[in-house]
Amino acid sequence: MAHILIIPKRIVTVDKQSRILKNYCVEIQDDKIKSIGKISKKTIKTFKGEVIHAEDLTLIPGFVQTHVHLCQTLFRGMADDLELLDWLQLKIFPYENAHDKKSLAASVKLGINELTLSGTTTILDMGTLRHQEVIFDELISSGIRAFAGKCMIDMNDLFPMFKSNTHDELKESYLLSKAFHNEANGRIKYGFAPRFALSASAKLMTEARDMMKDIPGSIFHTHSSENTHEVKAVRKKFKMNNIEYFNSLNLLDKNSVLAHCICVDKNEINLLKKKQVRVAHCPSSNLKLGSGFAPIPLYLKKGISVSLGADGAPCNNNLSIFNEMRLASLIQKPKYSPTAMDSETVFRLATIEGAKALHLENEIGSIEVGKKADIVLINLDGTAQSVYDEDENVYSRLVYSASGNDVKYVMIDGKWIVKSGKSKIYDQKEIMSEAKIELKKLLSRV
Ligand code: GUN
Ligand code: FE
Repeated sequence: MAHILIIPKRIVTVDKQSRILKNYCVEIQDDKIKSIGKISKKTIKTFKGEVIHAEDLTLIPGFVQTHVHLCQTLFRGMADDLELLDWLQLKIFPYENAHDKKSLAASVKLGINELTLSGTTTILDMGTLRHQEVIFDELISSGIRAFAGKCMIDMNDLFPMFKSNTHDELKESYLLSKAFHNEANGRIKYGFAPRFALSASAKLMTEARDMMKDIPGSIFHTHSSENTHEVKAVRKKFKMNNIEYFNSLNLLDKNSVLAHCICVDKNEINLLKKKQVRVAHCPSSNLKLGSGFAPIPLYLKKGISVSLGADGAPCNNNLSIFNEMRLASLIQKPKYSPTAMDSETVFRLATIEGAKALHLENEIGSIEVGKKADIVLINLDGTAQSVYDEDENVYSRLVYSASGNDVKYVMIDGKWIVKSGKSKIYDQKEIMSEAKIELKKLLSRV
């Protein structure tokens, strides 16, 4: 197994003291960070294993995205300039409904390739209605760390063809969770994923929650309170606001990840806090679909868990965490003040807070001895970079100026996924041409 010594310019640890270390190297043994020590010529000379001279790169924790849709990557640029419910009804549900195993695999590969090349090492994926095992197979073989689960839909007024029945949805989810939870050295975990209040019945959601008792460490992942039309429809159907409705079904606790949480009232915010719900904030998606601004500074002030996600490619249209970090900061400043969402706070949301949201904070999210070797080496001296003292403004560089292209090395679970800016798992040309062929075939099935 791996025995690797990395010699970076500096380490942004994201540990409890937010230490930034200079003249330190990191030793990786198998899947873990074995030691972090002062660089000495002797250590380097006598090291028996791979030595990575990254003296021009900054070592940071791998990024965590707590809301993505790998199955949608194929549909990038095909659903622009629409609001959520039209976007789902006219484009996304018909497209997802037309997936077969091959088109799904092609989509997932594109997504994982883009995510890993831009430094994301852990994701929470929403899955899709059919062929979920294809997503798991690809997650396992790619090397990425993931929570994922079959997207459950047992009612669908927007696109009635795109659903199954409650019993089969639950049974299939259960079998998938039994088959894949904790697979691949624990790298893969199960996230039960009813799509949203309008497409998953109360019975489906509550019974899925009950199943989680049988799958310790699994989580519950859905969308909530994303736009005004959606929350209006939820109110009409259930006579309650979305988060109040979820609470009435006992769906909310520290194992629940809710994407968006934009259109919420005071009582719902209090519920998020009281129930320790994890909010997955997706600023690009929220802007592009015109959904709105989630009150993230307020959530953080209250101590509500917030982490970041790119959502799907057709509502973004990019999966790089760097766009999400930058926007998560910038969009709040006009309302809350330029001092809100400073770069260090936002960098923590994209790393350790994402890990905490998924209860993986003892394994990932920071560079500390004993943690999993999920690491990124990034160039913070690119063409769009500050020339001011890097030690003084490393978070500024990371959040406001860096991009996915600056990521040069990515390791997950002790395995190199990206080296010298090139993917070790996918051939870009090959997966792009496969995706083009599969998309053409998929469109003939729509
Ligand atoms: N709500 C239900 N499904 C979806 C989806 O695929 N994307 C987003 N952004 N919101 C949703
Ligand atoms: Fe989503």
